Amino acid sequence: MQKKRTHTCGDLNKSALGREATLMGWVDRRRDHGSLIFIDLRDRYGVTQVRIDPDAACYDAAKNLRGEFVVAVTGVVQARPDGMVNNKLDTGEIELAAAEMEILNAARTTPFMISGETVASEDLRLKYRYLDLRRPEMQRNLLIRSQCYQLVRTYFEEQKFVEVETPYLMRSTPEGARDYLVPSRVWRGRFYALPQSPQQYKQLLMVAGLDRYFQIVRCFRDEDLRADRQPEFTQIDVEMSFIDEEDIFSLVEGLMGRVFQQILGKKLELPLQRITFDQAMAKYGSDKPDLRFGLEISDLTALVADSEFKVFRETAAQGGKVAGICAPKCGGYSRKQIDDLTEWIKNRGGAGLVAIKVKDGDWDSSLSKFFPEALRHRIMETLDAADGDLMLLVADKPETALTLLGDLRLKVAAQENLIPQDQFRMAWVVDFPLFEYSAEEERYVARHHPFTSPQPGQEDLMLSDPAQAKARAYDLILNGMEIAGGSIRIYNGELQSKMFRALGIGQEEAEEKFGHLLEAFSYGAPPHGGIAFGFDRLVMLLAGCQSIREVIAFPKTASAMSLMDGCPSYVSEAQLRELNLTISGE
Ligand code: AMO
Repeated sequence: MQKKRTHTCGDLNKSALGREATLMGWVDRRRDHGSLIFIDLRDRYGVTQVRIDPDAACYDAAKNLRGEFVVAVTGVVQARPDGMVNNKLDTGEIELAAAEMEILNAARTTPFMISGETVASEDLRLKYRYLDLRRPEMQRNLLIRSQCYQLVRTYFEEQKFVEVETPYLMRSTPEGARDYLVPSRVWRGRFYALPQSPQQYKQLLMVAGLDRYFQIVRCFRDEDLRADRQPEFTQIDVEMSFIDEEDIFSLVEGLMGRVFQQILGKKLELPLQRITFDQAMAKYGSDKPDLRFGLEISDLTALVADSEFKVFRETAAQGGKVAGICAPKCGGYSRKQIDDLTEWIKNRGGAGLVAIKVKDGDWDSSLSKFFPEALRHRIMETLDAADGDLMLLVADKPETALTLLGDLRLKVAAQENLIPQDQFRMAWVVDFPLFEYSAEEERYVARHHPFTSPQPGQEDLMLSDPAQAKARAYDLILNGMEIAGGSIRIYNGELQSKMFRALGIGQEEAEEKFGHLLEAFSYGAPPHGGIAFGFDRLVMLLAGCQSIREVIAFPKTASAMSLMDGCPSYVSEAQLRELNLTISGE
């Protein structure tokens, strides 16, 4: 009969000297030292060195071992000889002198090395994800993720929240990203949609009187993917009744404080800084500013409105914005480096970039002639630019100018190594606009979602001047990433109908798509609000990764494919027929 494992590969140390132990795991590496063979045996818990002497009964078997073979080894724990101790390993002071060994399973040569740092491409890692996940680095990520689940559940349980599962097959609704659809076999021509979030359900749970709901839940969005976006991702979803913004803030800050303490061993400074959407845009050109570094944007429009430099003067006259950032110690940039930045700005839809070097207390630029000395100095002062710095200015429509400078700020900071990698800067962004104009759809769309309440006294603006209406919405940002977003909701059917009107959704369509919600609101809906965390993003930042794919066991590629099982895949004619579907064209 096969032996039982007595310890893991991370367990054994000097306290076990002289004891017999049976370990099971994968061969991380095999080293032959003359006649002596060493194998590093690996499992989730660590690596233990196994020593096989030439006179051991299992010596011949050990000769056949190769990387990733699965073996069981029984032997006696011995101290490593002086000079052979490995302080990097918990098990580094001992080795297991093998007496018996059984090969539990052989392994083909793996497509990439599991041991040590991988140089494999991400595509290869995704195709063989089960091997990629064998790597300690990936196991660490999944462990951090698992720790986070437990922490979140404990926290919400303590705070008297109820965990409720909501459906994965729901009604398709307009607004938001594109839905993933699931055809119904039973109901010809009808579709379910996979939820983009449980937004409607959690509001209905408030109508149902659950008072405090949370769920760790999968969400599905058919949108363009990036490093921080997956077609299916996980939210910590929260909703509460009879509360306002402050209740949400303190609940979330309590959770974040605990996560930081327990996962990172760091104290999070509380309460968190709050910054309005308008301030964030003006200073950082982004609604999710990275606050780990300065490089703030300064508005120069008023200063240059009467200047002789035509581009600036005309931009100001047309209601545009002239603004800039100061790139510290970048005054030595070459012609090519500046041309590259200009090209980069143009590729993002900008008209151009004005780059001015500062030298000997003045501008070192051919543009100096358009600006009197006093103005040149005012501009340098406004941008806080000194000798050796590079001022980068943009003139464009106000939002475009700020967004371009926001992107440029990030680019310069990254290329000049100005972002402290070991810092965590978390903050609330508040006072968001209720709507944003969609040029594509030629109408206003909800900036957060259509169930978000306007700020008190702004209800009339919803129809009269939508661009000015502010929402009771908030985002939680961490190191330049939106990790959570939420709002205080509309809980009154009349206001909700007005919201749909403002969004250009007719009464009939609203009735058809959201009738169930409006009806629910007519049976005594409590005032309520909530928030949802991008769980993958949070774990990614805690684990110090660059992409959420690193903290998701089986993610999709940027083109929404699973390379491992080859989905999405074609299905048989019979399956299509059963669903009453035909594929047209190519
Ligand atoms: P929102 O759409 O802002 O709000 O989503 C909440 C958080 O989810 C994360 N997130 C994503 N993470 C990975 N991949 C994606 N494709 C993706 N899309 C969003 C972000 C975001 O902050 N129902 C509302 C919440 C509410 O109002 O309570 C909602 O879903 O970190």
